[in-house]
Amino acid sequence: MYDYLIVGAGLFGAVFSYEATKRGKTCLVIDKRDHIGGNIYTEKQAGIDVHKYGAHIFHTNSEKIWNYMQQFTTFNRYTNSPIANYKGEIYNLPFNMNTFHQLWGVTTPDEAKQKIASQRQHAGVAEAKNLEEQAISLVGTDIYQKLIKGYTEKQWGRKATDLPAFIIKRLPVRFTYDNNYFNDRFQGIPTHGYTAIIEQMLAKSTVKLGVDFFDDKTHFMRQAKKTLFTGMIDQYFSYQYGVLDYRSLRFETEKHATDNYQGNAVVNYTDSETPYTRIIEHKHFNFGTQSETIITKEYPTEWAKGDEPYYPINDQRNTALYLKYKAIASKEKDVLFGGRLATYKYYDMHQVIASALETIEEEFSHEH
Ligand code: FDA
Repeated sequence: MYDYLIVGAGLFGAVFSYEATKRGKTCLVIDKRDHIGGNIYTEKQAGIDVHKYGAHIFHTNSEKIWNYMQQFTTFNRYTNSPIANYKGEIYNLPFNMNTFHQLWGVTTPDEAKQKIASQRQHAGVAEAKNLEEQAISLVGTDIYQKLIKGYTEKQWGRKATDLPAFIIKRLPVRFTYDNNYFNDRFQGIPTHGYTAIIEQMLAKSTVKLGVDFFDDKTHFMRQAKKTLFTGMIDQYFSYQYGVLDYRSLRFETEKHATDNYQGNAVVNYTDSETPYTRIIEHKHFNFGTQSETIITKEYPTEWAKGDEPYYPINDQRNTALYLKYKAIASKEKDVLFGGRLATYKYYDMHQVIASALETIEEEFSHEH
């Protein structure tokens, strides 16, 4: 009999099992995939750490979380500075003085501010009724047309005029020549990839891969005193209130016989004609010097039950539905729910770690 059955060998399950085994508990970790790590899984191909489920850049403002991770890995000095390609024109992201110079030839912050202010005024949006109006009212027409419209429409599979304004609450605009995407104090890529971190976290647990919890829920739960579930919460409750929606992604990975395909780890394609939203060139995350390269094109896709769930849709229907599941989950005896799928929430890695550590603290608060 194990102390814990952990459903999901992703980051949440791995942090929980590390902390539980450290406290002398036994854990059985199962995952339906044939590898550990969940969505942060990296796989070595041609000497390059390939991010199999999309680009993963570690960043946090929390010194506690940053220090916590140092016991499992060192981080390199990678700074995320994506490039936008709009019909062959290249712009720096996030929107900053470099972008404004590339768009309008302006050189000072005052000139850039005036340009944006006059475009906003010209558009004359009083109260934004949709995403298009919201974006224009925040950053003006040029940035919207070239850098937001096509990308966002591909991402959501709908016209910007049919998308609700609330999706964009604010758009970070920076009046310095600073291409660093994140404002966080700490960021980097793990020197030996993410999978190596998860391996260490799971070292003292029993791990079974290629095992779906729902194939025999009762059998698995009987093997432990308590269960931590990190899969989809609606599936756990047999979709009794309905299905929670997601947006999905399809990845196309290619190997190229060049040492440098696009000169940057992340290039966003912001026009509407290119079917993918971005191309990742994995070696640049680790400043790789290999003679060949591996790239991944990321295509947003519709999601249907059974597809890989990536982004929760936090609209009214789904939020209300999730709250119903959450209410019954809180009454489930000896079962804990955690991670992005069980809480129906987009979580960055540092947030998942913080949340797993909180769950552990609560769980062990009654022990000394
Ligand atoms: P995760 O999904 O990783 O793990 C859950 C595990 O449970 C999976 O392995 C799954 O197979 C398993 N499972 C589910 N149902 C099961 C069942 N029935 N039986 C057995 N196993 C089951 N964050 C960040 O900080 N920086 C970044 O750059 C990015 N980039 C990024 C890009 C993209 C495209 C996405 C979608 C997400 C990011 N993220 C990110 C977020 C990051 O991926 C996320 O924080 C973690 O992967 C969440 O870890 P979890 O353990 O919660 O879920």
